[in-house]
Amino acid sequence: MKSFYVTTAIDYVNGSPHLGHAYEKVLTDVMARFRRQLGDSVHFLTGVDEHGQKVQASAKQRGIPPQQFCDEVSQEFRALLPKLDISNDDFIRTTDERHKRVVRAVLQQLFDMGEIYKAEYRGFYSTRQEQFLQEKDRNPDGSWPELFGEVTEIVESNYFFKLKQYQPWLVEFYEKHENFIFPAFRQKQVVEFLKEPLNDLCISRPRERLEWGIPLPFDEGYVTYVWFDALLNYYSAVADKPGIWPATWHVIGKDILVPPHAVYWPIMLHAAGLPLPQGIVAHGWWLQRGAKMSKSTGNALNPLDLVAEFGADAFRYFLIREMNVGQDSDFTREQFLVRYNSELANNLGNLVNRTLNMTTRFAAGNVPDADAAAEDELEKNLRALWSRTRDEFIPLCEGFQFHTALERAMVFLTETNAYIEKRAPWKLGKSVEAKDQALLRTALATMAEALRLAVALIQHVTPASSAKINAVLGYTPGAVWRDELNWDGRLAGRKVEGALVLFPRPAPTEKTPAAKA
Ligand code: MSP
Repeated sequence: MKSFYVTTAIDYVNGSPHLGHAYEKVLTDVMARFRRQLGDSVHFLTGVDEHGQKVQASAKQRGIPPQQFCDEVSQEFRALLPKLDISNDDFIRTTDERHKRVVRAVLQQLFDMGEIYKAEYRGFYSTRQEQFLQEKDRNPDGSWPELFGEVTEIVESNYFFKLKQYQPWLVEFYEKHENFIFPAFRQKQVVEFLKEPLNDLCISRPRERLEWGIPLPFDEGYVTYVWFDALLNYYSAVADKPGIWPATWHVIGKDILVPPHAVYWPIMLHAAGLPLPQGIVAHGWWLQRGAKMSKSTGNALNPLDLVAEFGADAFRYFLIREMNVGQDSDFTREQFLVRYNSELANNLGNLVNRTLNMTTRFAAGNVPDADAAAEDELEKNLRALWSRTRDEFIPLCEGFQFHTALERAMVFLTETNAYIEKRAPWKLGKSVEAKDQALLRTALATMAEALRLAVALIQHVTPASSAKINAVLGYTPGAVWRDELNWDGRLAGRKVEGALVLFPRPAPTEKTPAAKA
């Protein structure tokens, strides 16, 4: 069995989870579910990033110890996962003992190897970003950009990791691994970034300035700088689980690709003698009216509101259908409703209703056998479309083109509904002629089979609805997913339920734009 270890970024716990965080979990879940159904041995990790200045400050503001603050907010992030139907195998907190132990062990190892040294550092420091700034970070007029907040000049002794000496190695690494970063244009940006000289990385903060962190094992007067701590979660979570490391994909947002994930992380692993992951998937941002959705801009949407209103599957479907992995997308309620109405309620919901209604009405609730002799062009065309859809779908998902894959599945559903219109079983049902009766049985079998197949195709995106639809079709899918994609009329003789309400329409008073064709 092929091992597939996939991770999300770990979220800062200084605010509540928003739609951007939820998207990353859903995207990674869709990848994990897809690989599981292909038969890989999947390990899916997500978690929270709990150390650092901001958390220390937020806890202080609330007048509670940082650990208590982290316990509360982490619980919020954790509680989100089942509500989004996320199938993670593990949840790591950087305050877990298992994590702290590994971080300290790696630091000690690098220190013993001479990869870490102490030096005096004078520089401009941004408290908001928790980083020292460089001259090139200034605005053209010499001021500091807004995003750094208050900037002060400080001098202090700190520990440094010898990052710079690995620059030629990293440049060569990217030459040899052209597809390390998805999408490819992001790897080009990393290669560009590496044309400028790297500095060694300051990996400590004196405890008097930052108490809330992992103490350096070789100097307890300091704690680890946040990225050195956070990045190691991917490894610390599986360090004692044989056969999982290295990761297959780290799924992250584009804002934390360069330098942390694309520069620090590969160098840290290489220096510590650990194998590198297969690659990094850097997704884009959810925007609102062109601005990144975030806690600090105050335009963040609570994913739970949408889940409460429309259900987890509709939420997951929208995020995956709307966003081209790697690009940004604007989130609007209008667009959400367009897709909800036209694709889920109309296309999928209607097919479910029609299949159940007509099977009940014209075949006493039992899916009939298709009559091969009765089939003509309409059935043959639909089957041919199915073969093309299935053959395109898998490589699209393997290449993270989930939005296009779903679009193909929707075309198949649209065509299935169009088939029903043309075949008009309700007319055939009025005829007593044997020929029409054979065609009616074929039509009912065809629509049920098309529905079963479409549901199998999109089940990694809409797991709960897929399971419900299979249940009303009286069907339990087999263990081998690829076998589920064969058009073979296996539903014949199954007893279906009379009805299933999957995607109720939003309240009619709500103004919704006309559905896209
Ligand atoms: N704690 C660090 C990551 C450490 S990983 C070793 C961090 N946390 S975060 O809470 O700010 O962001 C967590 C993830 O959510 C990141 O991958 C980030 O890109 C993603 N998103 C945050 N806002 C987002 C959007 N508006 N849209 C999509 N994803 C974005 O960074």
